Amino acid sequence: MNWRLAIYPEAGSTQDLTKGLALEGEPEGGAVMALCQTAGRGRMGRSWQSGEAKDLALSFLLRPSIPACHAPLLGLLTAIAVARTVGRVTAASAQVRWPNDVLLNGKKVAGILSEGMVQGDEIRYVIVGVGLNVNSVEHDFFEEFRARATSLAIATGQRFDLVAVARTLLDEFGPLYDRMGTEGVGFVVPLWETLWAHRGTVLERDGVSGVADGVNPDGSLRLRTGDGRLITISSGEVAPARPLCEDASGAG
Ligand code: BTN
Repeated sequence: MNWRLAIYPEAGSTQDLTKGLALEGEPEGGAVMALCQTAGRGRMGRSWQSGEAKDLALSFLLRPSIPACHAPLLGLLTAIAVARTVGRVTAASAQVRWPNDVLLNGKKVAGILSEGMVQGDEIRYVIVGVGLNVNSVEHDFFEEFRARATSLAIATGQRFDLVAVARTLLDEFGPLYDRMGTEGVGFVVPLWETLWAHRGTVLERDGVSGVADGVNPDGSLRLRTGDGRLITISSGEVAPARPLCEDASGAG
């Protein structure tokens, strides 16, 4: 992949700047990072906070030749690249959480937002946005996230160069993406599962819980319920089920 990285001192959302490139006909490989992102977007309509000149806010433009139904695999592929990046720059082992969060020491260190345009069964473009907490320390996070979020700096006690981290990430993603082009998408899920934090744990959504059984070739999640049924979850989020004793006491 021929990456062309533009670095902005400040931007609303790098997703919007990259979408502008896509609509102007820019070939894939255009990438935008902002040292300060003032209106970052997260998944499911949430906002995304990046510490000013502390955390990585990076989006890149892809024009993949895969059927639209495989688009969710790009999020899994990105999560693999982010986990590898974390490993390369910190020597710590990161894990992934379905659908495409990256965890370090069990806490979220990065989130990924994929947005795109599809025409028929063809993908016109996909913009992948990565928010990776790099140099933020605990008091930089909103209070409600402190227990669940971490950064490379919190995990290691070191500071990192944001541009170098961005380039490492693009470096990790490129060969994985090229492999998808030559080999097809079959390798993505098995590779992602090697980093999965939750296989075999009980996950829950909307009061339905089941043991995390695996991820289907299209990127959807399989849970096995207590009565042996397999249920498929295609989008949204799941969380580890809370033990019954916690529910009963209301603690935790
Ligand atoms: C999530 O909700 O976990 C996904 C967060 C994605 C945030 C990144 S930061 C770079 C890019 N620009 C945005 O506005 N969002 C993504």
